[in-house]
Amino acid sequence: MLSADNSLDPLLKRPFSLFRWLNKDIQILYRVVGKLTNILKDKKSDDILEIIGPLGNGFPVIKGKARPILIGGGIGSAALFSLAETIKHKKPIFFIGAKTKKEILYTYALKSIGINPIISTDDGTLGHKGFITDMLKVFLTHHASRITHYCLYACGPRPMLKELTLLSEKFNLKGYIALEENMACGVGACLSCVVNTKNGFKRVCKEGPVFPIEEIKWDADFADYADVIPTKVGIQKKRLDSASSAE
Ligand SMILES: Cc1cc2nc3c(=O)[nH]c(=O)nc-3n(C[C@H](O)[C@H](O)[C@H](O)COP(=O)(O)OP(=O)(O)OC[C@H]3O[C@@H](n4cnc5c(N)ncnc54)[C@H](O)[C@@H]3O)c2cc1C
Ligand code: FES
Repeated sequence: MLSADNSLDPLLKRPFSLFRWLNKDIQILYRVVGKLTNILKDKKSDDILEIIGPLGNGFPVIKGKARPILIGGGIGSAALFSLAETIKHKKPIFFIGAKTKKEILYTYALKSIGINPIISTDDGTLGHKGFITDMLKVFLTHHASRITHYCLYACGPRPMLKELTLLSEKFNLKGYIALEENMACGVGACLSCVVNTKNGFKRVCKEGPVFPIEEIKWDADFADYADVIPTKVGIQKKRLDSASSAE
């Protein structure tokens, strides 16, 4: 969890993945979207940031011969580079997708560690035109008889992770996904990052952000969360209830 300095604006720290460890330094790769990232982009090299971390878990490096398939969508790819570096001897296959060419990140760094990524963009400005999950589907179809020889690692937007869950069920592919839920505290106290899993509700900041792909229940509806986050969702649910009874 990171904030730019000790000012209270923005009030809450924001979660970021560790892109890379370099001796005593850590690198973060970020997309400028809002208040904090706009402040970050104007920071100078000697400026001081406030960081709490590392928090939560990371991608497990599985033992054995399974070849890793890494798949990153948009800025979610930032969570995968460090893993790719660690397991490069296993010759990972790396799929990167984004909306457009300028959002395809760090291919230079991947090439420097011997990985030539498979790329797609929604608008076709780089690599194949279409979703990166379509590329993966083609790959899995071709290698269907050898699926147990692969292990999936993924991070990206929700629709991509949902599609990967379907693909992993269809092809019986095992693996792990990193979720990017909104977070307030980052240390397991506020429950703002809770997700529904086959083993009950879990906090993405504490028990995650990495989960086995088959564990997440994507179909959880709003009402499921009302008991868990009474202050936040309960109020909104009540509003929905009163709105529907007023109709
Ligand atoms: C576990 C985890 C790891 C993450 N790792 C990274 C990382 O390595 N690099 C990185 O850049 N981001 C990462 N994120 C997302 C990052 O935390 C948010 O983008 C962050 O909120 C940005 O802060 P901000 O103050 O600049 O924008 P905010 O003020 O929080 O948001 C401003 C506006 O942008 C929208 N917005 C916020 N995030 C996104 C987004 N990702 N895409 C599109 N619109 C968005 C919001 O809905 C809002 O309207 C991660 C999130 C999680 C939970
Ligand atoms: S962010 Fe507070 S519990 Fe996860």
